[in-house]
Amino acid sequence: MLQREVASFEIRDLGGALGAEIIGLDLASPLDGPTRSAIRDAFLEHQILAIRDQDLDIEAQVAFSLQFGPLERHVISNRNAPHPLVHIVTNLDADGRPSGSLQSTTWHSDKSFRPEPSMATILHARQLPPAGGETCFADMYGAYDSLPAETRAEIDDLRVVHSYALGRARMGVSVSEAERRDAPDTIHPLARIHPDTGRRALFMGDHAHHIEGWQVETGRALIERLQAHATQECFVYRHEWRPGDVLMWDNRCLLHRVEQNFDAARHARVLHRTCLRGTAPA
Ligand code: OGA
Ligand code: MN
Repeated sequence: MLQREVASFEIRDLGGALGAEIIGLDLASPLDGPTRSAIRDAFLEHQILAIRDQDLDIEAQVAFSLQFGPLERHVISNRNAPHPLVHIVTNLDADGRPSGSLQSTTWHSDKSFRPEPSMATILHARQLPPAGGETCFADMYGAYDSLPAETRAEIDDLRVVHSYALGRARMGVSVSEAERRDAPDTIHPLARIHPDTGRRALFMGDHAHHIEGWQVETGRALIERLQAHATQECFVYRHEWRPGDVLMWDNRCLLHRVEQNFDAARHARVLHRTCLRGTAPA
């Protein structure tokens, strides 16, 4: 196993194409420059970091996150959250009881419908079910690199219409006029070039609706074919949560979803989420 010692903490490869864990770091205090650089480098190299054994309240999570860039605010429907920059990912109802419903169960990249989609998501486990509820990640670099050269050449210049409203509609959920105005459709490259690594990555997921300039159905078929390719087991890492985990992942080169394999009407699953704002995909 690859092992690297940086200052007083360790960064360990999780064994597959994706993911590393960081042990021995306390995110509650400000990071010094070398530590911040080491985290940033490891984030670009591994795409997912599991920083173990943290206990951050909402303010501490915001302070940790802001050391890596500005944060996203909520979509309009989350604006009654306890903090304007923290989204509570929860299956609890208003009375604090497990509701049975779980969100984010299908492959997506956070806020891909925004002109500047999220660069990274930071999720901190607060309450976990006894087993299950893993977060799954698919490697969009690997998915792109493994396509035949002709396919890559065909898709390199295509652009995708990302739509919050159409994505929700596909799942049988309607959005209000205010939500529609708040999140108009946006167009992004299908194979975006990662601004920090220069590598190409497929950029799709729930909000990716059709191909610009193509018939909707033809474009949907291509997106669905590429997504089926990209989410095969060989590209997937499943994160089994441990209490105290802070997970930070790169939305520019990953899709993710939660695994609905526990009784969400019985067990609580609560995580606190901050999203770092990204740049317009190119
Ligand atoms: C999210 C998300 C997955 C999970 O918060 O953006 O997709 O495992 N969460 O809860
Ligand atoms: Mn998500």
